[in-house]
Amino acid sequence: MNETVRAYDRDAAAYVAHGPAMTDAVRARVEDFAQRLGAGARVLEIGSGGGRDALLMERLGLRVRRTDITPGFVALLRAQGHEADLLDPLVDDLAAAGDPYDAVWANASLLHVARVDLRVVLTRLAAVTRVGGLLGAALKEGDGDGWSTHGAISGPRHFTYWRADHLRAVVAAAGWTGIEIHAGVAGRRGEAWLEVSAVRDGVSP
Ligand SMILES: C[S@@+](CC[C@H](N)C(=O)[O-])C[C@H]1O[C@@H](n2cnc3c(N)ncnc32)[C@H](O)[C@@H]1O
Repeated sequence: MNETVRAYDRDAAAYVAHGPAMTDAVRARVEDFAQRLGAGARVLEIGSGGGRDALLMERLGLRVRRTDITPGFVALLRAQGHEADLLDPLVDDLAAAGDPYDAVWANASLLHVARVDLRVVLTRLAAVTRVGGLLGAALKEGDGDGWSTHGAISGPRHFTYWRADHLRAVVAAAGWTGIEIHAGVAGRRGEAWLEVSAVRDGVSP
């Protein structure tokens, strides 16, 4: 377990109780995602956290596989009666039983993946998504990387910041097309976000 995951694990209950509420921007992205996918579509969620987005996706007719790298979040999701899997998208088996997923949802989770590893993670996610399937993600906008302590998590977490052009190139190189990135989306604490959507390319990465 790395330092960031340890920080989440220590305060997972506090994050669920006092963590970020669903913003209008996230709700709009989830609704658009669900509309594009259609009812019954199967979504792999990376970094479900407290499960806020999964609940909305399910209300909108999607089927969600909840996963998280942090054991505390997986335990809390299970205690709420959901199936949830402990999963690190960089190294663990992501495959679905049966067909590939129709989509991957990763809100504010891939920002903890080291810059050098993001292409590998996105390539692994593409490999388990059907051609034409969707990727929805949000990462923090900025330069470099660094540690930050804020919000309901009392320990420091490591963040990798991205600029749209570089991120677009990495997403494309990982087997995704139709890439749209909305930059400069304002967060609650004045931080800026990059909202990403993409379509699984027809060519194997
Ligand atoms: C800011 S929380 C977001 C949780 C949830 N998606 C949301 O929007 O409320 C970050 C999430 O990323 C997960 N995470 C931490 N390190 C990660 C990594 N290296 N790869 C994937 N997810 C990671 C955490 O366990 C946590 O669930």
